[in-house]
Amino acid sequence: MKLLVFAGSTRQNSWNRKLARLVAEMARAGGAQVTHLELGDFEVPMYNADLEARGTPADVMRLKQITYEHPAWIICTPEYNASYPALLKNTLDWISSPVRSDPVWNDDFRSTRGKVVGVLSASPGALGGLRSQSHLVPLLLNLHCWVAPKNFALGRAADAFDAQGALVADAAKKNVQAVIDQVLWAAERLSPAT
Ligand SMILES: Cc1cc2nc3c(=O)[nH]c(=O)nc-3n(C[C@H](O)[C@H](O)[C@H](O)COP(=O)(O)O)c2cc1C
Repeated sequence: MKLLVFAGSTRQNSWNRKLARLVAEMARAGGAQVTHLELGDFEVPMYNADLEARGTPADVMRLKQITYEHPAWIICTPEYNASYPALLKNTLDWISSPVRSDPVWNDDFRSTRGKVVGVLSASPGALGGLRSQSHLVPLLLNLHCWVAPKNFALGRAADAFDAQGALVADAAKKNVQAVIDQVLWAAERLSPAT
């Protein structure tokens, strides 16, 4: 199964980037074919339809293609003001915006339809960014994704990782593994072949 993992942060010492790295390692160890994306590696401007009318940026086209090729995704989202960050909204808006002049990419949902998505969050706060998930999930459903019912919010993230980037608490590791397992299980059954 091809699994795409990315975090909604580009911050150097981001907890969610750390969590995404760990998810990628754990899923690889379980035999998944993992692509770990860093959104900071893509030059994606703030969505603007006038800009788009002059041509969808090359890195947006790259992201559309990569997301299209992966039936399973895991997103690690920070929580900003009890929601998810603009980086994730902007990324998902761009990849769902059709390229009208392109016979392949004029389909709004080509990159997102039928994807099985697991949502994780991490925050230094006690709730682990759980409230960001309740905003992100409706967006994913609107993009015609299947959202895995299992989720996990990593609270007190500043104390949650050891120096090697592993999770200190076994319970947290088990919860992350459970999301990975469910996403891969469901993607085998629900995702259209790409
Ligand atoms: C504008 C803003 C709003 C925030 N709001 C919340 C919040 O509602 N809940 C929360 O737990 N943390 C909040 N935080 C703190 C983030 O959880 C923290 O900065 C975290 O490290 C961001 O994720 P990252 O480490 O993956 O970059 C907020 C941070 C910013 C910059």
